[in-house]
Amino acid sequence: MSERQQQGGDVVTDLAGEQRPPSLDLRTDLPHPARMYDYYLGGKDNFPSDRAAAAQVVKLLPSTPAGCRANRRFLGRAVRLAVDRGIRQFLDIGTGIPTADNTHEVAQAAAPEARVVYVDNDPIVLAHARALLTSSPQGRTAYVDADFRDPDAVLAAPAVRDILDFDQPVALLTVALLHFFQDADGPYELVRRYQSALPSGSVHILSHGTGETMDPAVAESVMRTYAEVGLKMVSRTKAEVERFFPGWELVEPGVAPVNRWRADGNPEDLALSPAEAAGYGVVAVKP
Ligand SMILES: C[S@@+](CC[C@H](N)C(=O)[O-])C[C@H]1O[C@@H](n2cnc3c(N)ncnc32)[C@H](O)[C@@H]1O
Repeated sequence: MSERQQQGGDVVTDLAGEQRPPSLDLRTDLPHPARMYDYYLGGKDNFPSDRAAAAQVVKLLPSTPAGCRANRRFLGRAVRLAVDRGIRQFLDIGTGIPTADNTHEVAQAAAPEARVVYVDNDPIVLAHARALLTSSPQGRTAYVDADFRDPDAVLAAPAVRDILDFDQPVALLTVALLHFFQDADGPYELVRRYQSALPSGSVHILSHGTGETMDPAVAESVMRTYAEVGLKMVSRTKAEVERFFPGWELVEPGVAPVNRWRADGNPEDLALSPAEAAGYGVVAVKP
């Protein structure tokens, strides 16, 4: 543990604020979304079950890895936009296995004093959470092992309360997270609970998988493939993504394919079609 962590600067905790050891509770025999995503991004934290499932998806939608990279670049552009708007605090729910350009790295490159709390409920993300605790000396990061579906507990977690000041604007991130929740799971109500905790001027950075931009038969077979390996994903349309933001102001260009949202000339983004990107991105501001 670094001196900084011993001082209580950057921490991995559970909802009660207790320090968490890495969990060994990994089901490596079943494919897992965080590890499949890691595989698509060229990471090494995945197992044969993840690679086999991902290969089936790639066979149907060969652009899947490129779409995931476009999603990461969307995250980077959206975080920089939040920093440009003066935001210095980030609550990143559904963090994923650490990779290049994690939220705190992007934010602190622009504003070293930025503070970031990561939240994920996956044991493998927890096992790698220390890699997220590389804050700039002026900023802070924490990782909380918790479930998105428990907003009251997440918002009351000691690390969240300690690091984020809810009297100042916060950037909430749910990037490539909400397509894991059926309408019956109440994603709209859950999102509303987080949004209502934020002060005016806060932003919500969201991306979401979609089949709306692609051939319906391809979309259908991709969803079926995920379902066959036990992953129930939900494709949402642009209108359904907009429904996450009643009364909020959508930053230009509104809900757009992740690779087209304020594209900065990256050649892969330019080359991908919206169907290949297979995801919408949006940044909304709380009035
Ligand atoms: C596809 S990854 C996205 C990672 C990152 N946000 C990005 O877009 O690059 C989705 C993440 O959401 C996490 N996740 C899924 N269900 C969750 C839940 N109920 N609570 C917290 N995290 C969850 C998964 O563990 C995974 O790490």
